[in-house]
Amino acid sequence: MTGAPRVLVTGPIPGPALDVLREGNVDGAPVIVDAWDGDEPMPRAELLQRSRDCHGIVCLLTEQVDAEVLNACGPQLRVVANVAVGYNNLDVPAIHEHGAVATNTPGVLTDATADIALALILMTTRRLGEGERVIRAGEPWKWAMSFHLGTGIAGKRLGIVGMGAIGRALARRARACGMTIAYSNRRPVDPDVAAALGASFASLDELVSTSDVVSIHCPYTPDTHHLFDAALLARMRPDAFLVNTARGPIIDEAALVDALERQIIAGAGLDVFEHEPSVHPGLVHRDDVVLLPHLGSATVETRTAMAVLAVRNCLAVLNDEPPLTPIR
Ligand code: GLV
Repeated sequence: MTGAPRVLVTGPIPGPALDVLREGNVDGAPVIVDAWDGDEPMPRAELLQRSRDCHGIVCLLTEQVDAEVLNACGPQLRVVANVAVGYNNLDVPAIHEHGAVATNTPGVLTDATADIALALILMTTRRLGEGERVIRAGEPWKWAMSFHLGTGIAGKRLGIVGMGAIGRALARRARACGMTIAYSNRRPVDPDVAAALGASFASLDELVSTSDVVSIHCPYTPDTHHLFDAALLARMRPDAFLVNTARGPIIDEAALVDALERQIIAGAGLDVFEHEPSVHPGLVHRDDVVLLPHLGSATVETRTAMAVLAVRNCLAVLNDEPPLTPIR
């Protein structure tokens, strides 16, 4: 590479990651960092304009990197490093066709996201958000045998849709809570892994119709768009709960509202939404749902680790080294 490489960072990232980028060099030349630090996601026009002539993009999941952005960058673009494990915001085939490398951040957010999935399981089954609202609203309450009863999870069956790293981390947590684990996946996981997790394989149809709680951990792709549609929701049991910490559009939100309204399922815990940051108005006032604002990886430690990994991926590619976590 001739001259100093330019890297566009599309949003505010933790200081330690910016330091790694600013202290990094490529063929002895310091990296020129252009970082968007607005509170709002970078406007599209700004993204297109500031992409021009950059060699690397470190991007947040709020930015779509597609053919238009790649063309705005020009041919010298070498790497698009997503600060997220999910990469439905990247047009990966277009990035590869452009001759650039795409990377994501698997591994570092596994525990944080599994924690939020377990939190949503407990919040929905034990009606914790609802309980907190009683107190905050100043409503009268007192302990009573039948006051605010929820559903216990020990001895219940958790169905995990997508047994990747986060699904497995949730399985370990749920086992510690006394749940039995079933999972569906494109293919069964290694038998030793399944045995260690005490997890049994099931078809998606069987999984949703036999689980007390179904938790979604698959990637969002054209194949999983509205995977949970009216038909699949109707296969769930009326006393079952649905949890989603993956991506919103995996659930048809209108169909979910209808399923809740008609008591086809008992409740839902959602950290992600179909049209994020909008939330379907039919969900907002329901007591049988718990709604979190996409907090899966939102810890100081995890966000720092994600951003540092993304920056290291970016620097590796610019230095003609293999990226740590490429998207193939
Ligand atoms: C967060 O949602 C991620 O995909 O990293």
